Amino acid sequence: MKQEFERRLSSYYDELKWLYMEIYGDKAMLRQLIDVAREFYKERKPSLRKLDIQRERESNWYRKSDMVGMMVYAQQFAKNLTGIKEHLDHLKKLHIRYLHLMPLLKMPEGRNDGGYAVSDFRQVDERIGTIKQLSELSELCRKNRISLCLDFVINHTSDEHEWAMRAKKGEREYQERYLCFDNYDIPAEYEKTTPQVFPNTEPGNFIYDEEMGKHVLSTFHSYQWDLNYRNPAVFNEMAANLLFLANTGIEIFRIDAVPYIWKQLGTTSRNLPQVHSIMRMLRILCKIVCPAVAFKGEVVMAPHEVAPYFGSVEKPECDILYNVTTMVCVWNSLATRDVTLLKWQMDAMDALPREYTFVNYVRCHDDIGWGLDEGGIRAQGFDPLEHKKFLYHFYAGDYPESFARGRLYNYDPVSQDARSCGTCASLCGMEKAWWENNLQDMELAIRRHIMIHAYIASLGGIPVIYSGDEIAQLNDYSYEQDAEKNDDSRFLHRGEFSWEDAALIQKPQSRQAKVYIALQKILKVRGEHAVFDADAWEHTWETFDKSVLAFERRKGAERFVGIYNFSEYEKELSLGFDETFTELFSGQTISGSGLSLEPYEYLWLLRK
Ligand code: GLC
Repeated sequence: MKQEFERRLSSYYDELKWLYMEIYGDKAMLRQLIDVAREFYKERKPSLRKLDIQRERESNWYRKSDMVGMMVYAQQFAKNLTGIKEHLDHLKKLHIRYLHLMPLLKMPEGRNDGGYAVSDFRQVDERIGTIKQLSELSELCRKNRISLCLDFVINHTSDEHEWAMRAKKGEREYQERYLCFDNYDIPAEYEKTTPQVFPNTEPGNFIYDEEMGKHVLSTFHSYQWDLNYRNPAVFNEMAANLLFLANTGIEIFRIDAVPYIWKQLGTTSRNLPQVHSIMRMLRILCKIVCPAVAFKGEVVMAPHEVAPYFGSVEKPECDILYNVTTMVCVWNSLATRDVTLLKWQMDAMDALPREYTFVNYVRCHDDIGWGLDEGGIRAQGFDPLEHKKFLYHFYAGDYPESFARGRLYNYDPVSQDARSCGTCASLCGMEKAWWENNLQDMELAIRRHIMIHAYIASLGGIPVIYSGDEIAQLNDYSYEQDAEKNDDSRFLHRGEFSWEDAALIQKPQSRQAKVYIALQKILKVRGEHAVFDADAWEHTWETFDKSVLAFERRKGAERFVGIYNFSEYEKELSLGFDETFTELFSGQTISGSGLSLEPYEYLWLLRK
């Protein structure tokens, strides 16, 4: 068994050494890192080692069409890890094969950024469970063919983490793990070129810590202190934390806020080359200790800045990335009833190597940032800022004709930038229709919600459903009453999972049942066809109707055409194909001349 480790180490050693020495130039620390890796390998359970060997042979395990995911907050969904175990059936019935558990490691009470302020990387928060329970859950999930995904918050710790506490007490060694400054000279320089993440709620990139008497870099919230990756002790210890968590049986790590981990005066401190070296080293360590593990990078950046995080074919970094721009384009298309930008985005994605795997989603725990391609908006004759303003007002429900109910997020009066929050159902119009008791609008809202889920489920990659969306959960306004949360409108769509709503899926006329049954079917059908595998060929079609999107996918003998009406208008179109296809949900035979689509209707056509 030991040979496995040595075999893998010898095939990666030269590259690891080269990268490590380039950044840290410290041989003793490299030796220490390898010793630590060896220890984690020794501690790795036999069942996980077996999985490692299996995955070394089957490296595309997460790229098959039946890999469909869900993301849940353990507490909101089922109170704790034991609750998740008890509710596994809910996930299985939806054909879920990948479960992203939102941050669950030890976090401060109150201000913890939904768990993204970690106080201890080796303990589960006591309100949620224990490390032992996490290991047991991962094992149970594996038996049920579900891979667990966990966040690895790499960029910062909470200011209640032991390192931060010791830094505050004046211990130099720990101050050097963060970016602490005696006066504001360097911070002032840094601020000249570095953008802000929360310009409204958390202006500036630094905070002054009274106890320590120093300025500390905190890119996100004031209580999230950025780690200093120029210090090899930080890299070694964080790598050890990652390997520790991998040994609990986590199969996919969502590496949080990746682009931010390396800072450099005179730059934006985003996407710097060292970030890629660090990601590559972490990946190498996992390939040596726990090759069953895959990396999903959270890179919420402009489209051209995302793909580099896959690395190169010879030197891959992340296995999976978020398809952020497609998500934004979907919401843009719903508001404008125009799929032009979405089609362009698909064309850009289709030009990328088929080896790349993306998570496709419509909602997640974060806001929708309106990072659309500005050139594309201009090409359509719109001013990018005016268009962004239209979108965030539309989704805040500020226009009488808007179907959406949501909230602005981080409105910046200077740049007039803002993002949007709300659950999928509320943004699609169900909340408004429910309040107004308007059955016709409710029907349209349900159709919107289902259609955009069908759309993401027909793309290559991994469709991930945000927990609650499968039962069309509405916004939860209770955060407005909570002093710790009321300045963060993302909590609008982080409400407790409603098991009462879930029970309504037994009532076929309820919105919950309509959405649930449709999503269940969509995910099942997707898993049955190889044409939805990540490596299928994909190409968009010209529909000659700006509200209708159509695209084709091919793999082996299977040919799929997806057609989506992003409007409330009935459409007649001729796509000019003569072959007949079978519609996967209705079983009807359909040909491309003389197609008609109902409002927000979608067709999944297959030909073998
Ligand atoms: C990621 C998370 C977000 C969090 C931030 C800081 O972007 O998705 O929720 O606020 O990282 O950790």
